[in-house]
Amino acid sequence: MRLQLISISLLLATAACGFGADVAAGKTAYDAACKKCHGADGTPNPAIVKMMKVEMKHLGAKDVQAKSDAVLKKETIEGIGKMKAMPAVEKDVANILAFVRTLKQ
Ligand code: HEC
Repeated sequence: MRLQLISISLLLATAACGFGADVAAGKTAYDAACKKCHGADGTPNPAIVKMMKVEMKHLGAKDVQAKSDAVLKKETIEGIGKMKAMPAVEKDVANILAFVRTLKQ
């Protein structure tokens, strides 16, 4: 009985951590705003790499995923290097980040 209680509270704790942002809504926003450059699954679009003459990392790559939520949100909104700022995505940034975290390789 006590064990059951513990596993239920663990389950609730896990759910509470993961459900703050909406991954499905994040995917929709990502598809609209990021996919043309970063691919459906974070794989850089080779045409963009060529056109922008830039090295792009997979968004699921270890060193990208190692960045903090705050940094990734900032880069998404304010841009980084050759990626322009996208102030329009600010309202969706928490959801987009939740989706980007699912791309981890
Ligand atoms: C017009 C193409 C384009 C769009 C649209 C775009 N990006 Fe980027 N993004 C880039 C390029 C190019 C880089 C690499 C910039 C550099 O290193 O100079 C980049 C880099 C990044 C990085 C940093 C990755 C690293 O190397 O650590 C993140 C995070 C990122 N983009 C997230 C997003 C998200 C989220 C969206 C959608 C809201 C988005 N980008 C939309 C082109 C784009």
